[in-house]
Amino acid sequence: MVVATAKPSASHPIGVFDSGVGGLSVLRALRAELPHEQFVYVADSGNAPYGERDDDHVTARSHAITDYLLGHHQIKALVVACNTATAAAIKTLRAAYPTIPLVGIEPALKPAAAASQTKTVGVMATRGTMQSEKFQALLASLHGQATFVLQPCDGLAIAIEHNDAIKIEALCAEYTRAMGQFGLNSGAVDTLVLGCTHYPFVEPVLRQSIGEHVTLLEGGAPVARQTRRLLEAAGLLASQESAPTAPTRFYTTGQVNDLRDAAARWLQLDTEVSALAV
Ligand code: DGL
Repeated sequence: MVVATAKPSASHPIGVFDSGVGGLSVLRALRAELPHEQFVYVADSGNAPYGERDDDHVTARSHAITDYLLGHHQIKALVVACNTATAAAIKTLRAAYPTIPLVGIEPALKPAAAASQTKTVGVMATRGTMQSEKFQALLASLHGQATFVLQPCDGLAIAIEHNDAIKIEALCAEYTRAMGQFGLNSGAVDTLVLGCTHYPFVEPVLRQSIGEHVTLLEGGAPVARQTRRLLEAAGLLASQESAPTAPTRFYTTGQVNDLRDAAARWLQLDTEVSALAV
């Protein structure tokens, strides 16, 4: 574990990481909510997918990246922009870094149960997230409030990593078909939780199967609001006089082009990406 030498100040950046390009969906929400903050984004694409690996791998990667962000960028807060990493590692991260504001993400089951009219909620997430104790506890806490149709989506995150349109279309069709009927009829799924940060980027493809009337829920905006709350409470919010939307720094353990293209495609950012070995 790297111990941050200087106490973080409001002018330091916020670290954000995911197994790959999916966390850009969270970064998009963070940049909108906190336009005066600077972000450092790490995509661990060289070690993805997290969702089909064991917890030890995901936990070790999460700690290695957090050490890097603290040691090399003096981050003042950390956003774990990955449901799978949050499920596997948020507890040990909190224990190892007790003083840094730390925000994780989890599938939006609770708001989905409240929003659903048919009380039938679809959930798409990685196998790792769905098998985790954290997810199972969340599910148990909502017992009786809705029927949850759980769909682990093997292969989908990695297809999104590689922007493989044919695979994305085939997997979205297969997984939505497996969840049964969508829509407002009794017993149909009217609310679909996107419980992996990669999935918001394939919303248009999902819509081809589920139609326009199903509510999609993702976690980016709530995570951004929670990040603001924690920064405010710690007195670490960037000065509102600083330049809005300072450039984000991007690093990847995978292919530089994949992250650069994804940032251009989904965030309209023309950006430099650096290769990272951690
Ligand atoms: N983006 C990640 C999540 O939110 C996981 C994708 C993967 O399997 O690597 O769960």
